[in-house]
Amino acid sequence: MNLKEQFINFFVKNGHVQIPSAPLIPENDPSVLFNTAGMQPLIPYLMGKPHPEGKRLCDYQKCVRLTDLDSIGDKTHHTFFEMLGNWSLGDYFKKESITYSFEFLTQVLNIPLERLAVTVFAGTENIPRDETSASIWQSLGISPDRIAYLGEEDNFWIAGETGPCGGDTEIFYFRSNDEIPQKFDPKDDRWVEIWNNVFMEFNKNADGTITELPQKNVDTGMGLERVVAVLEGVLDNYQTSIWQDVIAKIEELSHKSYNDAAPSMRIIADHVRTAVFISADYAGIKPSNTDQGYILRRLIRRAIRHAKKLEIDMNSDWLLEIAKVIIKKYENYYPEIKANQEIVLEVLKDEAAKFNRTLEKGLKEFSKLVSHLTTSEINKDEAFKLYDTYGFPIELTEELAKEHNLSVDTEGFKAKFKEHQELSRTASAGKFKGGLSSQGEIETKYHTATHLLNAALKIVVGPDVHQKGSNITSERMRFDFSCNHKLSEEEKEQAEELVNRWIMDDIPVTMETMSKADAISSGAEAMFIEKYADIVNVYSIGDVSKEICGGPHVKHTGELGKFKIIKEEASSAGIRRIKAILE
Ligand code: SER
Repeated sequence: MNLKEQFINFFVKNGHVQIPSAPLIPENDPSVLFNTAGMQPLIPYLMGKPHPEGKRLCDYQKCVRLTDLDSIGDKTHHTFFEMLGNWSLGDYFKKESITYSFEFLTQVLNIPLERLAVTVFAGTENIPRDETSASIWQSLGISPDRIAYLGEEDNFWIAGETGPCGGDTEIFYFRSNDEIPQKFDPKDDRWVEIWNNVFMEFNKNADGTITELPQKNVDTGMGLERVVAVLEGVLDNYQTSIWQDVIAKIEELSHKSYNDAAPSMRIIADHVRTAVFISADYAGIKPSNTDQGYILRRLIRRAIRHAKKLEIDMNSDWLLEIAKVIIKKYENYYPEIKANQEIVLEVLKDEAAKFNRTLEKGLKEFSKLVSHLTTSEINKDEAFKLYDTYGFPIELTEELAKEHNLSVDTEGFKAKFKEHQELSRTASAGKFKGGLSSQGEIETKYHTATHLLNAALKIVVGPDVHQKGSNITSERMRFDFSCNHKLSEEEKEQAEELVNRWIMDDIPVTMETMSKADAISSGAEAMFIEKYADIVNVYSIGDVSKEICGGPHVKHTGELGKFKIIKEEASSAGIRRIKAILE
C-alpha cells in the first residue's frame, strides 16, 4: 500500500468519508489560477454549511503552486503536488486531531518518536497561547523540549486575505543521519515540516476583524512528495518511488544518467506532470497566451527546451512517452486523467509541434544576439522578437539569459507586449475603443448576458432550449442552443427585449456553493452534468435564471448595457447559433 492509500484507509477506518479531489482549476474564484490547498473547495463548509458527506472528511487533493516556479530544478520543489488532508467540520477538535496524526505517524508509518517534534501557536494579544495542543502532545509522549511555540507568522493559517483561519500545530521530522538533538530548533533545517493541523475556529472578515466561526473545525494538510522522500530516506524528492519510472524514461530517451543531468531532468519531469494534470482537468485548458493557458504553454515549452538541452530527439514522440508514464501512474487515482488522456496527449503533441518549428531558429537567434551584445542586458525589442517570432515565453528568455550571465529588460518587454496587444485588439475591432474597460470585464459581462439569453430563449422558444456551447470574446458572445427551427424575426425580437428588460431591472446576481445533487434538485440548469465536481457553484439572477457555472459574473444586470442579437444561424443538426453584442 502506498502512502496515499495508507492515509485514506486510516482516516476512513476512523469514521471519515473520502471525498474526491476538487478540480485543479477553481470553479468559483477567478482571482486564483489554481487550487493551492485541499481546504479551498471546503470553505463554505468550514463556515458552517452542512456538507453532504458529513462532518469527517479526508482526501488527496491536486494542487498547483506557482510561487516556486523558478526553483524547479532543485531537489525539493514541484509545481504540482498532492496534499493529503483530513477534516473535522464542527466535529472533533484538537485532542482527536493531534491523536490521529500521532497514531498515523507512529503506528501506521512507524516513525520513531525521537524523530518527531512539533510547533504550536504562541498566541497574540487577542488569541491565547495554545497550551491545550502542547499538553496533548506531551500526554502522547512528546517531550517539552520538542515543542516550540511560534507566533502568527509561522503558526496561524489562512488561505488568502479573508475567510476561515486559526492557529495551527505543525509536525516536524528529523531527516538527517546526524545525532538527533534533544532540543528542537525549528530553524535547524534538518527538521522538516511534514504535517500541518490547522484549528479553524475563526473567520477573518473583510474589515480585518477576527470573529469566531459558528463551529470549531480541523483542517490538516500533508505534502505527499515530501513525506514520501522522508519515509524513503532520500534528500532528493525526485529520487523517490514517485518519480523513479519517469526519471528512468528521461534517462532512456536522453541516453544520459540522472547524476549528470539532474536539474534538467527534474524540470522535464515536474513540468510534464503538471502539464498533464492541467490539461486533464475538466476546465479544458489549452495552451494560450493568458491565465492558466499561458502557464500550461510556459511549462510545456520550458520542458521542451530542457529536453533539447539533453539532446533528446525532438522528432521522436519523447514528450508523449513521458506523459504516458505519468498518465499510467495516476489514472487509477484521478478519473479525469483516464477519461481525458487522449486530450492530454493531443495538447502536448500540438504544442510541441508548434514550438519545435521555431525553437531551433530561436535558439540560433539567441546565440547570434549574445555574440553581438555590447551590454549585459537583452533589450526589450530583442526579447519581444524572441517572443513574437520564435514563441519564447519571456520567462524562457530570462532563463537562457541567466545561463549566460545576462539580464533581460523584462519591464520594457511587458510594456511593449501590452502596447502590441492593444494594437492588435484595436485592429481586430476595426475601430479604436479607448481601452476603457479591460478585456476581463467585458468578457464577464458577456458571460452574464449568456445566462440571460439562455433564460429568454426558454421562455420565447420553449423549455426544451438548452445551452449546447458558448464562446466569448471581448467583441461579442456566441451562444449555441438546442432548437429545430430557424428563429423568426419575432422570436429574436422578443428574446432581445426580454434580456434588455432584465438588464433595465438591474437584478442582483448571486452565487451559492452546494453539492451537485442539491444544485440539480434545486432546478439549476447545467450544461454537462458529468463535467462538474461534486461541489458546484450556482449563479442566480433573481428568479430569472439559475445555472451551475464557474463564473465570473457581474454583480447586477444593470452593468451590461444594451443587448443586441446580430445574427442567428444553423450551427449543426438541431442546434442554432446566436451571435450577440453588448453596446
Ligand atoms: N490548509 C493547510 C495547509 O495548506 C492545512 O491543510 O497547509
